Amino acid sequence: MIIAGPSSQLLAGRVAAILRQDLALCEYRTFPDGESYSQVVTEPEDDVAIIQSTVTDRDIIYILQLLDICRDKKVSLVIPYFGYARQDKIFKSGEPMSARAIAYAFNPFLGPGSKVYTVNIHASSVLSHFSCRAQSLDATPLLAEKVRSLGLDDPVIISPDKGAVTMAKTAASCLGAECDYLEKTRLSGTEVSVAPKEINVSGRDVVIFDDMIATGGTMATAISLLKKQGARKVYLAAVHPVLTGNAILKLYRSGVEAVLATDTIDRGVSTVSVAPLIADALKA
Ligand code: R5P
Repeated sequence: MIIAGPSSQLLAGRVAAILRQDLALCEYRTFPDGESYSQVVTEPEDDVAIIQSTVTDRDIIYILQLLDICRDKKVSLVIPYFGYARQDKIFKSGEPMSARAIAYAFNPFLGPGSKVYTVNIHASSVLSHFSCRAQSLDATPLLAEKVRSLGLDDPVIISPDKGAVTMAKTAASCLGAECDYLEKTRLSGTEVSVAPKEINVSGRDVVIFDDMIATGGTMATAISLLKKQGARKVYLAAVHPVLTGNAILKLYRSGVEAVLATDTIDRGVSTVSVAPLIADALKA
């Protein structure tokens, strides 16, 4: 049985449809004092998959409530977008390792038969904090297929920094395209230049791949730079469209042609579904 958290109802519905599994009827409300209320109205079966991205702090509470409802069941916990994964280290003294703290909150509910799945988690080290098996699924080939459908002529795949190079390489290999990453070179004490390390993008279409777009700052800067360097059309492909505040405006003001993203977070740009990826993992 598939149990959808409030942030992943569409995706959970898609997974249930692929697997032809029951989709539990759930209700979510907020009490007048701001506390969260969850109810799984359909009696949960013995083997359940809870699907819920953690875009907001409240989404974490919903997972805890769903885990408690299913405490005597065999649980697969699917967190398509795992928030706080960027706080995977203690960067400054006095800080928490937030991603670890969240995993530790879930662990008491996860037995040895449980499994945790996420999609393109920002730092794979986070997986080691779960007490059961945990796996990050890779949505890059699905995004690359969407890029292929655009019919671009010999596009260059670019990673906006070294962190997303693996993703860019995977996408490039799916598409049979060249790939590169943006490298910062310090020219003087006050001047830096940012440019693709090897490939000249002048006159070529470019697709920038990254795991997520949050404020849009990273991508907007990359788009502007590539445009200045003569790129023809610049597309973005990101797994998690967090898109806070005016992120979409920043991207279009920078001259992006289109934004492609997945439904790990349900947004207007979520045109690629990770449901087949999650369904395959749950079937395995
Ligand atoms: C950083 O390491 C990530 O891969 C993303 O590039 C970053 O989190 C995007 O954030 P923003 O959209 O706020 O620049």
